[in-house]
Amino acid sequence: VVLLFKSDPDDTRGWTAELARRLPGVEVRTWPDVGDPADIEFCVGWAFPPGSLRGFPNLKGLQSLGAGVDHVFRDPDLPEALPIARIVDPYMTEDMTQWVMLNVLRFHKQDPDYRRLQAEGRWDELPPPSWRDRRVGVMGLGELGGHALERLRYFGYKLAGWSRTKKRIDRVETFAGEEGLRPFLARTDILVVLLPLTPETEDLLNRERLSRLPKGAFVINAGRGRLLVDEDLIAMLDSGHLGGAALDVFRQEPLAADHAFWKHPKVVITPHVSALTRAETAVPQIVENYRRALAGEPLLHPVDRRRRY
Ligand SMILES: NC(=O)c1ccc[n+]([C@@H]2O[C@H](COP(=O)([O-])OP(=O)(O)OC[C@H]3O[C@@H](n4cnc5c(N)ncnc54)[C@H](OP(=O)(O)O)[C@@H]3O)[C@@H](O)[C@H]2O)c1
Repeated sequence: VVLLFKSDPDDTRGWTAELARRLPGVEVRTWPDVGDPADIEFCVGWAFPPGSLRGFPNLKGLQSLGAGVDHVFRDPDLPEALPIARIVDPYMTEDMTQWVMLNVLRFHKQDPDYRRLQAEGRWDELPPPSWRDRRVGVMGLGELGGHALERLRYFGYKLAGWSRTKKRIDRVETFAGEEGLRPFLARTDILVVLLPLTPETEDLLNRERLSRLPKGAFVINAGRGRLLVDEDLIAMLDSGHLGGAALDVFRQEPLAADHAFWKHPKVVITPHVSALTRAETAVPQIVENYRRALAGEPLLHPVDRRRRY
């Protein structure tokens, strides 16, 4: 029996149908209709309630419904030896890259400034930025960051990337670890954040680190809200040190109605939609992982528990 947990009930039916279609003979149950906990062999979902997985004595694998797995490690009772997998989906990766392009181009081409001038009915020409001189830096050089950089290369920007372990990427200046962070930030006009949320990356972008960016820099975050300290970002935008921010992820989702980001003139918001997991493209790897989990084979796109991503 496979158990599906989906926080959005409207969306659950499509997933159940797609899983059932691709797993003939396997019963797909949906949370909270668990039935006998001993029946559950494989769980698929996003943020299972803490403690719930521990209650399934025959559980052989957990499939995150997203690329990020910080939601999995929020459970203090996560069974120790449970194999965990995340989604790596070329459709989703391309989707994210397009969201990143939208926002890099938005800031590079001074779109917020021209929108303000339009609202004032002003035909003013701003000093044009050069794409040759534009320094774009990507934090996180995994599936998403690596793909975004590949596309950004076509625009001719000066590119850099930062990761935990040092990488070699054609025509990209790479930096790694704590010692690489300062020089990476100091050379970055447009910062794209595609990091996972882990104990090491939480609150990484605080006032001290944001102040290392050059004056007028832009921040684009689609990793996780908790990578960024909200008050520090707002303070740096208000002081004029930062030119703008495009945010898809937030410390609390949905974003509270009275949060300062909503009406901030320098902040562009999307509601965690930059790259959604789609049943159509994600279910084949979930089905394969179900098979592997039951056969005791290593899962596709496994999560390293020690690194937490
Ligand atoms: N907004 C959305 O809709 C959406 C959708 C999908 C994913 N996401 C977010 O995007 C994140 C990244 O996804 P992915 O598939 O690209 O992950 P990934 O393939 O696991 O890549 C993660 C990258 O981050 C780097 N990293 C991790 N911890 C680090 C640290 N402490 N210091 C420096 N670099 C560190 C890794 O470095 P190494 O290469 O050295 O290991 C790796 O390059 C996900 O975890 C999720 O939070 C958001």
